[in-house]
Amino acid sequence: MELTRRQLIQATAAGPAAAFAANDRIQVGIIGCGARSHELMKALMLHPGAQITRVCDAYKGRVERAAERTKGSPAADWKSILGDKSIDAVVIASPDHWHKTHVIEALRAGKDVYCEKPLTYTAEEGLEIIRTAKETGKIVQVGSQGVSGQAQNKAREMIRGGKLGKITMIRAAYNRNTASGAWIYPIPPDASASTCNWAEFQGPAKKRPFSLERFFRWRCYTDYSGGIATDLFVHLCTTIHYLMDAKMPARVMAMGELYRWKESRDVPDTLNAILEYPEGFTVNLSSTFNNQSSAESGFQFLGTEGTITLGSPAIRYEPENAVEDNRWIVESWPSRLEAQYYQDAKVKAAELPETRAPKLSSAGEEFRQTGLDSTYSHFGNWLNALRTRKAFWEDALNGHRAAACAHMVNLSVREKRLVEWDFQAENIRRT
Ligand SMILES: NC(=O)c1ccc[n+]([C@@H]2O[C@H](COP(=O)([O-])OP(=O)(O)OC[C@H]3O[C@@H](n4cnc5c(N)ncnc54)[C@H](O)[C@@H]3O)[C@@H](O)[C@H]2O)c1
Repeated sequence: MELTRRQLIQATAAGPAAAFAANDRIQVGIIGCGARSHELMKALMLHPGAQITRVCDAYKGRVERAAERTKGSPAADWKSILGDKSIDAVVIASPDHWHKTHVIEALRAGKDVYCEKPLTYTAEEGLEIIRTAKETGKIVQVGSQGVSGQAQNKAREMIRGGKLGKITMIRAAYNRNTASGAWIYPIPPDASASTCNWAEFQGPAKKRPFSLERFFRWRCYTDYSGGIATDLFVHLCTTIHYLMDAKMPARVMAMGELYRWKESRDVPDTLNAILEYPEGFTVNLSSTFNNQSSAESGFQFLGTEGTITLGSPAIRYEPENAVEDNRWIVESWPSRLEAQYYQDAKVKAAELPETRAPKLSSAGEEFRQTGLDSTYSHFGNWLNALRTRKAFWEDALNGHRAAACAHMVNLSVREKRLVEWDFQAENIRRT
C-alpha cells in the first residue's frame, strides 16, 4: 500500500523516527531485493531516520531496480554488505533457506537485523539465532508486520480488556484460487544462468540443476521453504501469540495434501492444522489454494462474551447473544411438570422471551484501520528499537516461536502424528 504525503507527514511528526537527526541516519544494507524487499524499501525510505546505502541480490535485474529505487550502491554479494563498516543494520529478505545464515552472519558482523518471516527454515536454527542475538547484543526484529498495525493493536486491547470474555477457540485462514496466489509468479524475460547466480541462490540448500522455476518460485519447493505453513500460517501464529499473550501450542496435529497444482511443487496446496495452547484455547488454521469464496485471509477470536473478526483492514466485534431455551426438552415431560418449570423465577428470567432481560446491547462495533500501513509502522518499531536498544515484541524468541509452529505443522503432516513442544528446551519435543 502506497502512503500518501499527508500520512507520511503525520507519521514522521509523531513517530519514533523523528528522533534521528538528518546527519545521524541509520545506514542500512539490503540483502535480497525481491518482490517483498521492494515493498520494504519503499516503506523504509519514508522514515527519515534511515538511509539505504547498499543493496545486493542473486539476480541482476533486481539489484538494478533496487539501486534505481533507493540510490543505494549495488554490492557484489551479501558478504560485502556485512564487511562494510559504514553499514549499521541490514534488512534480510532472501528466501527462507538463507535466513539463518544471513541473520547469524549479520549479527556476528555487528549489524542489527530486520529479517522477513519466517525467521527460520528449521526449529533448531531459531535456537542458534536467539543465542547469537544474546551474545552480540544486537537487535533482531522479524517481519510479520501485522502486529505493528493499528487493527491488531486495537483487537489486542479489546481482548486484554476482557471484552470477549474467555476465548477458547480461534479460527484463522488463508484462501486463494489463482496461479499467483499459488506462488506461480512470472519469471523476468531476461532471467538466465548469466543474470541469475544459481550458486548464490542455492547456498545451504540441496544442490540441484539450474532451474528458473526454483529460483523465482522457491516457495513451491521443500528445499527452500515450508510451503503454506511457513509462508502463511507463520503470520497467523505471530498475531495469535501477540493478541493472546501466548507462548506456544503444547500439541499440534495437521493434515496437508497436494490436490491441484501438482506439476509446479512438492508442498501441499491444502492444509489444516489444530494447535492446542496451555493458556486455555485451541486454534484451527486452514488454507486452500483452490477456492477463495471466503475472505482471502482472516481471524475469528471466539469468546464467551463476544467475537472479534479480524480481517484486513477492519475489525468487527459482535457481542454474544446466546439465551437459554429448554422448551423442546420440557415439552417431553408430563404437562404438569412442564407448567411448573415455567413458574420458576430463574427460568422466567432466563428463558421466557416476555420476561427475560435483553442479554446485552446487541449492536456490534466496527473499527477500520486508517492511516499508516503496518510495514511502515513495523519499521518505526525497528528504528525505535535500534535507538533505545530495546527490541520490539517480535524479536528473535517470538520470531522463532511463530516459525516453530509452522515447523510443527509440517512435521505432523510428514509423519502423520501429533507433535509436541518442549517448553524448557524451546524446541520441538523429540520422540
Ligand atoms: N511480511 C510479508 O508480508 C511478506 C510478504 C512476502 C514475502 N515475505 C518474505 O520475504 C522473503 C522474500 O520473499 P519474496 O516474495 O520477496 O521472494 P523473491 O524470490 O521475490 O525474493 C527473494 C530474493 O532473494 C534473492 N536471493 C536469493 N539468494 C540470495 C543470496 N544468497 N543473497 C542475496 N539475494 C539472494 C533472490 O534473487 C530474490 O530476488 C521471504 O522470506 C518471504 O517469506 C514476507
